[in-house]
Amino acid sequence: MKKRMLRDIEVSEIGMGCMAFSHGYGQIPDESYSSEAIRNAFRHGCTFFDTAEVYSPGLSGIGHNERIVGKALKEVRPQAVIATKLFLNVGFGGSVETVLRRHLEASMQRLQTDYVDLYYLHRMGGVPVEKVAEAMGRLIDEGLIRGWGLSQVDVEVIDRAQRVTPLSAIQNIYSMVERDSEARIIPYCMEHRIGFVPFSPIASGLLSGKITPQTKFESYDDVRNWVPQLSRANIAGNQPIVDLLKQYAEMKNATPAQISLSWMLHKYPNVVPIPGSKNRERIIENLEASHVELTDSEFHSLETALNQCKVYGHRGLGGF
Ligand SMILES: NC(=O)c1ccc[n+]([C@@H]2O[C@H](COP(=O)([O-])OP(=O)(O)OC[C@H]3O[C@@H](n4cnc5c(N)ncnc54)[C@H](OP(=O)(O)O)[C@@H]3O)[C@@H](O)[C@H]2O)c1
Repeated sequence: MKKRMLRDIEVSEIGMGCMAFSHGYGQIPDESYSSEAIRNAFRHGCTFFDTAEVYSPGLSGIGHNERIVGKALKEVRPQAVIATKLFLNVGFGGSVETVLRRHLEASMQRLQTDYVDLYYLHRMGGVPVEKVAEAMGRLIDEGLIRGWGLSQVDVEVIDRAQRVTPLSAIQNIYSMVERDSEARIIPYCMEHRIGFVPFSPIASGLLSGKITPQTKFESYDDVRNWVPQLSRANIAGNQPIVDLLKQYAEMKNATPAQISLSWMLHKYPNVVPIPGSKNRERIIENLEASHVELTDSEFHSLETALNQCKVYGHRGLGGF
C-alpha cells in the first residue's frame, strides 16, 4: 500500500481503527477473531494501528484493546506503527510527566513493546497543553515514544503545543459529514508537517450506504445510538450524500465506503484515515480504498455536489 508521513513516521495511507474489537459498536468478537483480523490487515499492507488505553467493553476497564493489538502484532512489531492514547485527569497525583510516564509504561506492557510509535493525549482534560508537550518531548528524547499527538482539538491548542514540541499527528473526527477541521486545522497541519488522522471517517457506518432509518443498533455499548447523523430522521436527511457516494461507487467499480475514503485521500496529502470495523472482510474493503483513485475532475465534481448537500446532524470537536 502507498505510504504517507506523520512528520517523521511512515505509515500506510489507510490505517486501522481497532476500537470496535473492545468497545463502541455493540457485541465484540472473540479475541482470536480480532487478532487474526489485525494480522490479516497487516498482510494486506496496513502498517498503522490505532488503539487507546480506555478501549474496553463498556469503557468499564482499562487495556482490553491494547492487549489484543499487542498480541496480534507481536511477531511483526518492528514493521508496525502503533498509536495509543491516554487520559490525564485534572486531579491526578504527581507531575504531568510522572503521570504520563505511568500511563505509558502500563500501555507498553499491555502492548508487549518497549516503545510506542505515536502517543496521543485523548482529550484536553484541563491540563495546560504546554506541560503535556514538554513531557512528551522528554519521552521522545528517551526513545520511549517516536512522536506525539492530540485528539479533538482546535487550532489554538495545536499551535500552543507545536511551539513546545512539534506534533506528529492530530486525530479529530472527520468525514464527508463532519468537516469542521477543513477550515483551519488541516491547513495548519499541512503547513507544519503534522499528519491529520480522521477518526470515524465513514461516519460510524452511514457513508457505507448500508444503514437505513430501519436499522436497529445494539442496546449495549453502541455509539450509533447517539451519533447525531444516525437518528432516524437524520439518516433519511443524509440520503442525498449516500446516493452521491453510490453513484460514484458504481462509476468507479468500488463501494460507497471506499469512495468516502478516496475522497479525503485525494483532497489532502497529509490525511491518513483509520476506518474501524470488526469484520475481517470490511477491514480489507476499507484498506483497498487505497487503489480507488479519483481523477482531479472526478474529485472536483464529487466535491461540488457534496458542497451542495445539507448535512443533518453534527458532532464537531466539542464534547466526547
Ligand atoms: N480519538 C477519538 O476520540 C476517537 C473516537 C472514536 C474512534 N476513534 C478511533 O477511530 C477508529 C475509527 O472510528 P470508527 O470506528 O467510529 O469509524 P467508522 O469506520 O467511521 O465507523 C465504524 C462503523 O462503520 C461500519 N463500517 C466500517 N466500514 C464499513 C464498510 N466498509 N461497510 C459497511 N460498514 C462499515 C462498522 O461496522 P462493522 O464493524 O460491522 O464493519 C462500524 O459500525 C476507531 O476504531 C478508533 O481507533 C478515536
